[in-house]
Amino acid sequence: MRVLAIPGSLRNDSYNAKLLYNSAELFQEDVVLDLWGGLKDVPPYDEDDDGVNAPAAVAELRDVIARADAVLIATPEYNSSIPGQLKNALDWVSRPIATNPMRNKPVAVIGASTSAFGGVWAQAELRKVLASLGARVLEVELAVPHAHERFDERGRLTDGDFVEQLTAVADSIVLAVAERVARLEVTA
Ligand code: FNR
Repeated sequence: MRVLAIPGSLRNDSYNAKLLYNSAELFQEDVVLDLWGGLKDVPPYDEDDDGVNAPAAVAELRDVIARADAVLIATPEYNSSIPGQLKNALDWVSRPIATNPMRNKPVAVIGASTSAFGGVWAQAELRKVLASLGARVLEVELAVPHAHERFDERGRLTDGDFVEQLTAVADSIVLAVAERVARLEVTA
């Protein structure tokens, strides 16, 4: 099973990227977590540039999503919403609308922010956007507030409650993929 991990931050020392690193060892052994680092290369959405000759970074993103069994996105919150670059990337992913690679894909949204609320508004808006793409948005949540106090110098989550919640997110992803495979087998 392959899970694609997408950090919504471009920052080197991103707490959201750290959340994804922490999740890697919480998945079952047969799960491969691929961290996608191409967000900064995605150009602004322009319908004139879309189609078979879409920009390379966009083609790559569409491809890695298509090849993943599930997607895990850790998003920061910028001004109570989704960071523009992440939303822009999802606008590219959303086309062509009927066959976009997020359609029916199990997707979990988590996030960390330095505020007291952990970026819950950005996560809610991201779930809404993903649902409009046709993704199967999982009903799991993890909002890490005061992110600057939650990781040690090696980037490990220091709070056991958040590790537990992140483990529950990982388990839900595995379960959702297994259910999807079972459904596909029944209809085949
Ligand atoms: C923020 N931050 C922020 N946090 C929050 O909880 N709600 C918000 O609305 C905002 N708004 C916001 C706007 C902009 C432009 C920046 C740069 C930051 C703080 C944000 O949570 C913090 O920078 C996180 O560390 C960003 O996540 P990464 O980069 O560490 O993953």
